[in-house]
Amino acid sequence: MLKRKEFITAFKESVDKDNFVRLTLSRNVDKTSSLRKAIIKIVVIKKKLHFCIVHRHATNDITKNFGITDGFNIIDDLMENTFLNAALFNTEKDLFYELNNRKERLYENKATFTEIPPRTHDKQKPKLIVNTSYLVQLGILDDKGRVQKDKGAKYKQIKKFVEVIESLLKKNPSLGKDQTINIFDMGSGKGYLTFALYDYLTNNAQIDVKMCGVEARPELVQFCNEVAKKDNFKNLSFQEGFISNFTLPNIDMLIALHACDTATDDAIYKGIEAGAQLIICAPCCHKQIRKQLNATAPLDSITNFGILKERQAEMVTDTIRALLLEANGYKASVFEFISTEHTGKNVMIVGQKSPVSSAEKNDYLVRIKALKISFGIKTHYLETLLK
Ligand SMILES: C[S@@+](CC[C@H](N)C(=O)[O-])C[C@H]1O[C@@H](n2cnc3c(N)ncnc32)[C@H](O)[C@@H]1O
Repeated sequence: MLKRKEFITAFKESVDKDNFVRLTLSRNVDKTSSLRKAIIKIVVIKKKLHFCIVHRHATNDITKNFGITDGFNIIDDLMENTFLNAALFNTEKDLFYELNNRKERLYENKATFTEIPPRTHDKQKPKLIVNTSYLVQLGILDDKGRVQKDKGAKYKQIKKFVEVIESLLKKNPSLGKDQTINIFDMGSGKGYLTFALYDYLTNNAQIDVKMCGVEARPELVQFCNEVAKKDNFKNLSFQEGFISNFTLPNIDMLIALHACDTATDDAIYKGIEAGAQLIICAPCCHKQIRKQLNATAPLDSITNFGILKERQAEMVTDTIRALLLEANGYKASVFEFISTEHTGKNVMIVGQKSPVSSAEKNDYLVRIKALKISFGIKTHYLETLLK
């Protein structure tokens, strides 16, 4: 393979001349492999040049740094055994190598880059999800680490959820500082988000955590406990039970994602009762309020249209939930935690414990009353629980 040798010589000369910008290897010989590309840059670590090699897989990047001699050997090997295409960028030219049906092609273009990039070592954004074994067991990834065909949206949701929790923990630095964080996930289902959060907190954020998923369906509880055991997630367990009659100890964080209809209210109530510092829920199926909606003019026009009535019911239900959290000593925020293209159930309500005066509490209750009157609502389920 003469042209490959020529390409590698040009690459080595470019490094020697210090006009090297980047080398990209692509078109894996093994089409079933999750490894899509290798991107090579030069960085200075402890005053010495290193190759920074990013192995770009379908779902994640793996970055490693190598001394120059080792790096050359690894790159030689990647070109010989793994990738069919290579592109070298330096400040003199762009040089391309392609191997097709054992036929080599080497050609060059005008240089894309006129300056070499800074050789400083970029701090990589830390990966939030470290362990992937449970994602395979849960059917999100296949055994090669690729996202299963119909699981892309769920995988995005899992990653986004972990990001949200990461940022909430930054805003609540006292959590997990000296003591174990006690978390309950109400209506944990198949545990997608429970496992990812446990993995992030223990293996990435290195926070001591005790976590429990509560789920009504015994087969899911059994399945999740088996996955937790296989992954050696010692402080994660799942218990069978209904949210409404589950007795919680004092806890730090309560999660309820997509717990249907009033199960979200049961969960919020349990979180307040258990003194949780953080209550995080993503409600779904807002049936309880919809049945009662009977708005007075001019709001009645909204509730005359099916889909708008449905959305209005969601908004009123969740607004009252947020106000009730505020009235009960939580600063509430409501936001979309993932884009609507991934799931319709994307509104998240977060309550962060924060003292409330009796005057403020009264103000929240007055606002709730006014809202209920405007929409003809007799009872909001969470309100009845909190009375
Ligand atoms: C839509 S799934 C969501 C699962 C998980 N939280 C997630 O977001 O991936 C809702 C789960 O909550 C459970 N569930 C609903 N109501 C419940 C209740 N009152 N008590 C316990 N589990 C409940 C259901 O069995 C189901 O597994």
